[in-house]
Amino acid sequence: MNMAQALLKSTLAAPEPQLQPVAQQTVLSVQDLCKSWNGQHNVLDGISFDLHAGELVGVIGRSGAGKSTLLHVLNGTHTATSGHILSLEDDDDERDITELHGRALRQWRSECGMIFQDFCLVPRLDVLTNVLLGRLSQTSTLKSLFKIFPDSDRARAIELLEWMGLLPHALQRAENLSGGQMQRVAICRALMQNPRILLADEPVASLDPKNTQRIMDALKQVSQRGISVMVNLHSVELVQSYCSRVIGIASGRVVYDGHPASLTEDTLQQLYGDEISQLH
Ligand SMILES: Nc1ncnc2c1ncn2[C@@H]1O[C@H](COP(=O)(O)OP(=O)(O)O)[C@@H](O)[C@H]1O
Ligand SMILES: [Mg+2]
Repeated sequence: MNMAQALLKSTLAAPEPQLQPVAQQTVLSVQDLCKSWNGQHNVLDGISFDLHAGELVGVIGRSGAGKSTLLHVLNGTHTATSGHILSLEDDDDERDITELHGRALRQWRSECGMIFQDFCLVPRLDVLTNVLLGRLSQTSTLKSLFKIFPDSDRARAIELLEWMGLLPHALQRAENLSGGQMQRVAICRALMQNPRILLADEPVASLDPKNTQRIMDALKQVSQRGISVMVNLHSVELVQSYCSRVIGIASGRVVYDGHPASLTEDTLQQLYGDEISQLH
């Protein structure tokens, strides 16, 4: 178990943490990453950055800039055309995610949780089982089909649901929850994987302000416990309230990488062009 996982496991159920973020340990080094579809122009065009433990990184840019593609390539659900994504472990073990296949790739995906705008829960299954499905890669298909999970997994799922204020809904079908509740379940499911990295693709795009705040608070808590969180957001205001760092992407290139407080009007203009008036 690495430091981030140990921290998460020991502190998630605790009250509001007194912890400082873990020192700037690099967990991922993205180097000159490119992605094109069918040999067309590069949707990701030479992206480089390091991701550190405990960071909450907002990714911003206009629609079509490449934000979702970036998260999917990092997660290994889309293949890179060129470049490297180095996963750096505590013990100096280094893997290039772009070279993984089969079981090794599945292992990486289990270390790299992901949540989406539309939650991607199984609507007819209850909340608890949806969370337990986060352990799917570590559970045999047959066992998960019959919903046979070890007691330790159930205890962990319940702990996460309690943290998210969802314990009273544990046995309800996911389809009966509100959008905000569904996204909280999705976060619990992703954390069931004990990820080192959590990627979130527009997780609050369909939520009202109160639920948006709740999800962003949860992501911040997750990052404060040592996990690197990378979140695609449409709102610069949210980035400025929550994120410790922002990466701005335009046409598949990083045009800004720094503290949100230092974002200038010029950079926003470069990032959003005539969409700038739609920003909130
Ligand atoms: N599966 C795909 N096949 C072909 N083109 C795609 C595919 N997915 C995304 N794209 C293209 O890649 C570009 C970046 O898309 P995306 O990463 O979804 O941007 P964003 O999330 O910033 O809105 C867009 O031009 C989009 O049309
Ligand atoms: Mg997108």
